Order: sequence, then C-alpha cells, then structure tokens
Amino acid sequence: MNILETLAEEHRIFRRLLERLAKSVTLEESAARKEIQNTLLLLFPVLDAHEKIETIVFDPAHLDQGAKCQGFFQKVSHQHEQIHKLRKEVLDMRGNSRKRSFEDLKMGALELIGLLNYHFELEERELWPEYSQFLRSTAAHSIGRRVTQKLKEMELELGKRWELVEGLLAS
Ligand SMILES: [Fe+2]
Ligand SMILES: [Fe+2]
Repeated sequence: MNILETLAEEHRIFRRLLERLAKSVTLEESAARKEIQNTLLLLFPVLDAHEKIETIVFDPAHLDQGAKCQGFFQKVSHQHEQIHKLRKEVLDMRGNSRKRSFEDLKMGALELIGLLNYHFELEERELWPEYSQFLRSTAAHSIGRRVTQKLKEMELELGKRWELVEGLLAS
C-alpha cells in the first residue's frame, strides 16, 4: 500500500466509527449513553495510530525543505495540535460522561464528530495533494512500509476492542 492509500484507509476506519457515534446519539438515553461510551473506547486506538502515522508521514527529515514547504509545515503542525486537543476531549468525555446531562453529552459527541470530520476533509483536500510535492522519493518506500505496519497494529487493537464491546453488549 502506498502512503496516501494507507492514510485514506485510516480515515475510512475513522469515519465508520464516527458514523457509529452519530447513530448512538439518536438512541434513547440509557442505550445512547452506553453506546457513546463504547464508541469512544473504540476511538482511542484509532486516534493514537492517527498521531503516530502522521508523525512518521510528515517527518521534516524526509521532506524537501524550501520556502513553499514552510507554509505546509505550519498547516501540518496546526492540524496536529488540533487532533491532540480532540484526543484529550475524547478522554475527558469518556471519563465524565455520567456526570453530564444527556443533552450536553449528545452535543459534545456531535461537536466531536464535526471537528474530526473537518480535520479529515482538510487533510484530504489540502495537505495530501501538497505532500506529494514535498516528499523525497528516496524516503517513500520506507515511510510506506512503516505506516502500513502502524495501520496493521491499529486494526489489530481495534479488532480486540470491538470484540470486547460487542461482548459487553451481548451480556
Ligand atoms: Fe491528522
Ligand atoms: Fe489524517
């Protein structure tokens, strides 16, 4: 798999989880609360992998440094900070969801979905096309291999958690 295909696959997995989260807010309160908690649990390994994968992909050491590249890096690091903040929000939401009113929790989940989707769209529309111009061709192969490996690890971890969540739902 090449680098952009791996990134696209990762976004597809993310979007599936966000759809699950969107569906969970439409349920009645006790089912919704449970399902929101479960989906947040599933989101963690994907968020972690997202950060790790993008640290490898956007490593300045493998990109051509030039004036045009500076603007690109600013966008990358801004997006990186945003996703880091969202990760913290997911953590907080999971920790304090019982204390929050149902309306507030639903609003928080919908806001999270909106912000994450915005992040992915921006990456796909702006960062990925630019990335191809700056990546050194000599580094493409090794980066591709490393990110594919990270994606596999994430899928494995997600699979384990998914089984756990489905087991909880069945019991
Ligand atoms: Fe990202
Ligand atoms: Fe991404």
